[in-house]
Amino acid sequence: MEHLISYDLARGLHIIAVIAWISGLLMQPRFYAYITSSTPGGELEQTMLKAAKNLRLIILGPSMVLAWAFGIFLFVTYVTGDWSRPPDVILAGVPHWFWAKLILVLGLSGYHGFLIVEGRRLAKGERPRSERFWRLMSEVPFLVAIAAVLLATLEP
Ligand code: HEM
Repeated sequence: MEHLISYDLARGLHIIAVIAWISGLLMQPRFYAYITSSTPGGELEQTMLKAAKNLRLIILGPSMVLAWAFGIFLFVTYVTGDWSRPPDVILAGVPHWFWAKLILVLGLSGYHGFLIVEGRRLAKGERPRSERFWRLMSEVPFLVAIAAVLLATLEP
């Protein structure tokens, strides 16, 4: 069957979107750490709040949407393949690594939502979490990304 874009192009675009998404998820908590340690109302706080907001709007939002869009396209077109089969046969044919990866990407998406909520609180002048918390949080997406990439490439 002919598809809108080829498997290899879709994989490439998926990986590009994923790179942008994960970079944003790694940077955003760093900005939050700077905001948390800055003087309230000072120049650093204002600059970092603006940088964090721009990162959410320009990088994080679009790249998450594109990573999901190309991921779903790959799934629907190339992983499950023939949709004329009964639903239970289609489901049974989905490889196990995909379900594990889905849990991880749902986790990353939840973490993304958490960052958005926390960003709005910081913009209101609330600082509910410590600088140390945000420094630790900036490592988490990388660990999840390692697992997601190896699941997709090794297909265990
Ligand atoms: C956002 C939801 C996501 C969905 C629905 C999704 C789904 C998929 C699907 C169906 C494939 C094709 C696999 C194949 O053809 O064997 C794929 C490829 C891939 N995905 Fe994702 N993915 C998502 C997010 C991610 C994330 C967050 C990462 C990395 C951090 C990632 C890394 C990769 C890589 C490296 C490949 C290429 C694997 C290969 O060509 O062997 N994906 N993804």
